[in-house]
Amino acid sequence: MQWTLHTRATDYVVSLLPDGSGVVLDYWGERTDVEREAWSEPARITGWATPSDSAPLEYASNGQRHTAFSELLVDRGDSRTGASWRVDEAGIAFETGQRGDSLDVPFIDETGTLRLTLHATTSADHDVVRRWITLENSGESAVELPRAFSAGWNVPVGQRVRVDYLAGSWSREFQRRRVDLDWGTFSIGSRQGMTGLAFSPVVTLTALPDIDSFVRPASHAYGVALEWSGSWRLQVDSNQVGQSTRVSCGVDDDTTTITLLAGESFVSPQSAGVFSADGVDGVSQAWHRYQQLALARDLTPWHRPVVYNSWMATTFDVRIDHQLELAGIAADLGVEVFVVDDGWFVGRTSDRAGLGDWTPDPAKFPGGLSALADRVIEKGMRFGLWVEPECVNPDSDLFRQHPDWVYRAEGRPLLSIRNQYVLDLGRQDVVEWVEDVLRTLLTSTPISYIKWDMNRPVTDGGRAGDPHGREWSVQHTRSYYRILRMLRAEFPDVTLEACASGGGRIDNAVLALSDVVWTSDEVGARDRLVIQDGFLSAYPAHVMSSWVSDDLGHRDRSPSSLGYRFAVAMAGVLGIGSDLLAWDAEERDEAGRHVARYKELRNVVHRGTSVTHGRPTDNLYCVEYRGPADDERIVLFVYDRDRDRTRDREQPRVFPTTLDADRRYRVAGSEQVVSGASARGSGVLVPFGFASDADVLVLDPLD
Ligand code: GLA
Repeated sequence: MQWTLHTRATDYVVSLLPDGSGVVLDYWGERTDVEREAWSEPARITGWATPSDSAPLEYASNGQRHTAFSELLVDRGDSRTGASWRVDEAGIAFETGQRGDSLDVPFIDETGTLRLTLHATTSADHDVVRRWITLENSGESAVELPRAFSAGWNVPVGQRVRVDYLAGSWSREFQRRRVDLDWGTFSIGSRQGMTGLAFSPVVTLTALPDIDSFVRPASHAYGVALEWSGSWRLQVDSNQVGQSTRVSCGVDDDTTTITLLAGESFVSPQSAGVFSADGVDGVSQAWHRYQQLALARDLTPWHRPVVYNSWMATTFDVRIDHQLELAGIAADLGVEVFVVDDGWFVGRTSDRAGLGDWTPDPAKFPGGLSALADRVIEKGMRFGLWVEPECVNPDSDLFRQHPDWVYRAEGRPLLSIRNQYVLDLGRQDVVEWVEDVLRTLLTSTPISYIKWDMNRPVTDGGRAGDPHGREWSVQHTRSYYRILRMLRAEFPDVTLEACASGGGRIDNAVLALSDVVWTSDEVGARDRLVIQDGFLSAYPAHVMSSWVSDDLGHRDRSPSSLGYRFAVAMAGVLGIGSDLLAWDAEERDEAGRHVARYKELRNVVHRGTSVTHGRPTDNLYCVEYRGPADDERIVLFVYDRDRDRTRDREQPRVFPTTLDADRRYRVAGSEQVVSGASARGSGVLVPFGFASDADVLVLDPLD
């Protein structure tokens, strides 16, 4: 039995092993009309590998494999670990259609009490294959799963593999990193109860350009992502028998054990895989397409508006008159949503107190929050608010009333980070309380934008005596999703910005339930550009919230012009974080012009494809956007590190790659007309008309 799952331009072909013990990968790559042979055991396996260890299994368990890595570990508590599987043919479901394909293959273990179903779906809109598993326990005793990953991916790039990934820390997220793996295991993940600041759950694999390149051309690139916002692990294992490198990923197996009591089941998070024949950049574009078409609820400006956020201008010193002064200027600049960040609620004079007490501070807002919101709306903007609903300060009424609501390892001291504890969202009463707090806020005040923050890892979970106590990071994440779903369903006009001390919780699952994400607390434009460059390799511009600020970066502190700072923020979802009262009339005037220009271009930035040229640390770096089919403008954001333009030197050129070779384009604002072929071959001159150190070039197709 063989099944071909079609994506937009690729095929994913799997078959059932002849003995019905598992599903194997037969082909993953460009669509061709060649019939794919089902995988068969190599005639001669050298060494110690058994057939199940060397088969390119789509999902493997201990007990089935003997020495090779397994995505699933089964422990029934009787020393006979593992399970072996036989397909339940009657339960196989394969649907193939115009819009996409789906496959479910169920297996029963040798005791007849565990059922494992492998799921896969594709869509004709994009090139992503989504895979996950369900495990059901119909036996009478509990089964423990010390590891219950989502999928194993047999990536056909040979065993000497280049892995591109994203690593970082607070204010330095999404740094591009690369490792060349030559027979070994590479593992990234998070034990932070969240996606985490250290790694993004996504890798790109290509064959190492030398010895193994005959196996696959280097232009053949594969991406694998885990769509999960709790603790996780992703491992790349090139030490396999066969011609592929295995990527396995799922809920973190170090900090989590799933328990299935009699009659219970576990549905894993989804994992996503993508192939591109256009190399690493092609994989980025394939992710973007998927995120635009399958994850975003829409791509309208309503849910990615121009924001002014007053945090950096005021920090905790929130005063209504001051906020209104800022709002007045923001409205003049063309801002669409005025967001009040931290510091608006009772007792919140610093990060040491108040978290959890979500009522507007009567001292700061004698007329209630609506007094500010109404005035903001009168000025033609929407009103937005910051919340951090998962956490509580010890110095808060909430904690004084419900000290038992936080995660705590019994008998150990409570751990506070940024002076706060985490609410146990594994408890139904706590989740309901959070939902009610948000409902009350959103119905009592005309709020249409929420910035949801989370400023510490989730640690020390584990409810003593609860058989599911070791799943707290899974429960927490599912409750977070549940609340986000509630917000979408009950308040569809409310835009949601997801934040966790900057980019601490960004993944495809968050993208599917929020509208924009706060990529980093780093707002220094030069450092921000490095973060955005890495971000765009796996995530799209339409979620990349970015503020113009007057702060210098933590690392590269060299100054940049206001235009440069706008050009950085305009390449995503533009916002402003500066103290607007400190800007003079000229700066405000310039800012207003840039906001207007951004509004003309955002359709291309948010709905198009993007590709980066060079690196932000190069002298010249460019991010290129090509608009969607109904708006095929090309927008080039160009950044120059060498800001001294007085020196006599050749005027720089950029080399866009997304133009159609046989079309002509006018460089907007000039008489210059270029053909697509000449622009790609000889480049486009950068006049630096936008700013001395940055430019925004628009190429309008003429035919
Ligand atoms: C986090 C966020 C910031 C800001 C502060 C407020 O650090 O990432 O943008 O909201 O919290 O306390």
